[in-house]
Amino acid sequence: MSVTLEGNMLVTGSNRGIGLELVKQLAERTGAEAHIYASCREPEGTRAEALRELSTQHPGKITIIKLDTSDEDSICAAVRAVNEEIGAGGLNLLINNAAINKPARPAPLSATGKKDMMEVYETNVVGPFLLAKMFLPLLQRAAERFSPEDHEGDMMSCRRSAIINISTVISSVKKCPETFSMAPMYPYRTSKTALNMLTRCQAEDFRKHNILVTAIHPGWVCTDMGGEQAPLAAQDSVLGLLSVMSSLSNKDSGMFIDWQGNSIPW
Ligand SMILES: NC(=O)c1ccc[n+]([C@@H]2O[C@H](COP(=O)([O-])OP(=O)(O)OC[C@H]3O[C@@H](n4cnc5c(N)ncnc54)[C@H](OP(=O)(O)O)[C@@H]3O)[C@@H](O)[C@H]2O)c1
Repeated sequence: MSVTLEGNMLVTGSNRGIGLELVKQLAERTGAEAHIYASCREPEGTRAEALRELSTQHPGKITIIKLDTSDEDSICAAVRAVNEEIGAGGLNLLINNAAINKPARPAPLSATGKKDMMEVYETNVVGPFLLAKMFLPLLQRAAERFSPEDHEGDMMSCRRSAIINISTVISSVKKCPETFSMAPMYPYRTSKTALNMLTRCQAEDFRKHNILVTAIHPGWVCTDMGGEQAPLAAQDSVLGLLSVMSSLSNKDSGMFIDWQGNSIPW
């Protein structure tokens, strides 16, 4: 599968799981001009060892950025740090990947409280909302510098300027009757449905800037969140995600699709 992403890209929650694999494959599959801002909560901590190792394997290609997506001050500091490094190029691609699921395993209503709802919303919805808002000037800068004539005429693409929100099929309202019993997760499901609406709103709002916004389901993936019984390896999911991202254009902004490019009903 071909990957034609380039420019400056930022991935949230990139110290493990799908986020780490995204950074790995972006580093391996993009050209010399591409630069990856790999963000995580504790760049110096033990949980970021694999990311630091990856960064040393690709000298000059990965910058590790401290970013807690549930903390507004942390988002501000990360935007400042990226802005200082990025120069005139702007940010071409923001991948909102970081997310949490609380209570940790599928839990009945009786075991789910306000704290779970608030924490999950802060990370899964408010974080991506603030990230898009605060990175907008850098995304606009990238969109303005891009000349569609040099890139087969598409006005919008992940090469030009885009936000990808990593969603999940279990956020689909239409599919809820068939998926609820296997994953009864009130905070997680409803937060991702809100993320879908955020995707849709920002796609409309940012169309005037030629910034594409799309929600993508990565499949059921074997990670800490997906669990060991998940059928899909992170490597295969990310291969599909990057191939899909490479092919997105005007018609895909505001859409909800999966890692193989199939559309998912809202
Ligand atoms: N795995 C699946 O089957 C599946 C299915 C559908 C959708 N998804 C979505 O795919 C994305 C990645 O999932 P995953 O399976 O890779 O999950 P994961 O293994 O649990 O990894 C989650 C990542 O998000 C980070 N994170 C959590 N809260 C954060 C915060 N406040 N600030 C910054 N980073 C934070 C974690 O960092 P720490 O190490 O610091 O906690 C970790 O790097 C998520 O959006 C998830 O909803 C996954």
